[in-house]
Amino acid sequence: MTGLHSPEVSVLETTDVYSHLDPAALRHADSLKWTLYGEDVIPMWVADMDYPVAPAILNALQDRLTRGLGYPQLMGDPLLTRLIQEKAATQGLTDLPAEGVALLPGVVPGIFAAVHALTAPGDGVLTMLPVYHPFHLSINDQRRVVQAAALKDSGTRWEIDWEALEGAVTPSTRLMLLCHPHNPTGRVWNAEELGKLRDFALKHNLYVCSDELHADLSFADALFESFAADPRVRGRTVTLTGPCKAFNTAGLGIGAMLSHDAALIKRLKTAVGGLMGHPSALSITMWQAALQEGGPWLAETVAYLRGNRDLLQAFLAERFPYIKSYAVESTYLAWLDVRSHPHAGDIQQVLLEQARVAIHNGPVFAPDPQKADYQGFIRVNFATSRALLTEALERMAGVLGGDVE
Ligand SMILES: Cc1ncc(COP(=O)(O)O)c(C=O)c1O
Repeated sequence: MTGLHSPEVSVLETTDVYSHLDPAALRHADSLKWTLYGEDVIPMWVADMDYPVAPAILNALQDRLTRGLGYPQLMGDPLLTRLIQEKAATQGLTDLPAEGVALLPGVVPGIFAAVHALTAPGDGVLTMLPVYHPFHLSINDQRRVVQAAALKDSGTRWEIDWEALEGAVTPSTRLMLLCHPHNPTGRVWNAEELGKLRDFALKHNLYVCSDELHADLSFADALFESFAADPRVRGRTVTLTGPCKAFNTAGLGIGAMLSHDAALIKRLKTAVGGLMGHPSALSITMWQAALQEGGPWLAETVAYLRGNRDLLQAFLAERFPYIKSYAVESTYLAWLDVRSHPHAGDIQQVLLEQARVAIHNGPVFAPDPQKADYQGFIRVNFATSRALLTEALERMAGVLGGDVE
């Protein structure tokens, strides 16, 4: 059999491998996802995919290892910068200057840097709830003030609550942290919503940090549009991007901050100075390969993930009529509202201890997890084989049952 890692492997064989994942091999001591909980637990929590890295990336890494591992082009790798500029242009960030591209050791450091550079202690920073938890850590840990507006459930999808957003702004608000596509609801903000968000940022004179890390995992036919695609907001926006979600390379750690205003990038760099560190040589090689050769692999992977998303939604509709969840438009993370179940109050423990399935608990996605906002919601990572996904859902059904009183 041709191994996934051989250079000549076809993309169809790639997704065939996804259908035959071996939990024993995945449960390697290297993997946080597979080792945090017990041996018999199916892990559907942290946002890694269970799939091997793209052959093009593996080949590039192997080739890179044949050369020395001295300092890479850490002042700004010219090839990677150009590839990032080209990629950004396809998402509406046309004419991005090379000085407006700065590499990061990961996207989360970019979130922290944006909060640090663009606000002062005591300033307000806007977020929309629920959201990926480092958004709130970056505000709370740096003694800024979370000003959160909850998204609203329209009955067909999660939407921005414009009144709540207006209500959350104060004269001390300096920055809006946007998650686009949105983790954990899987929304990709559409053209109308992006237009309103831009008007909102202009009206309140806000900086915007738009975390677009999941942009390449979109299931929609429409091309992904960056928040800063509109020239009106380019001077006030830092866009964060990276390869780790689409190419499953979080262990290599790299990202980039982008802005049409090179001075804004300089401001972020200066504010964090030597604390930021630099990306590794292997991560730079990996991202180059992903951008140059990873397209077909990514298309196959997204198609496979779309199938998993549909399997999940169909299973939920048929077997868990009391769970509310909308098909995600991007990401491999589904946001499930299980509040009507009698075990809503201890859903994570019940699923872990009885179903042996590990999920992310709702309160993690609120500013103060101790307050238990979003208790009864769970985030489920469906980037695994259909067999493992089905097994996890069957286990959940066995414990939660098909009906609630
Ligand atoms: C929206 C978002 N931003 C950032 C990250 C993490 O990025 P990194 O590992 O590059 O710091 C994640 C990881 O799941 C994420 O979902």
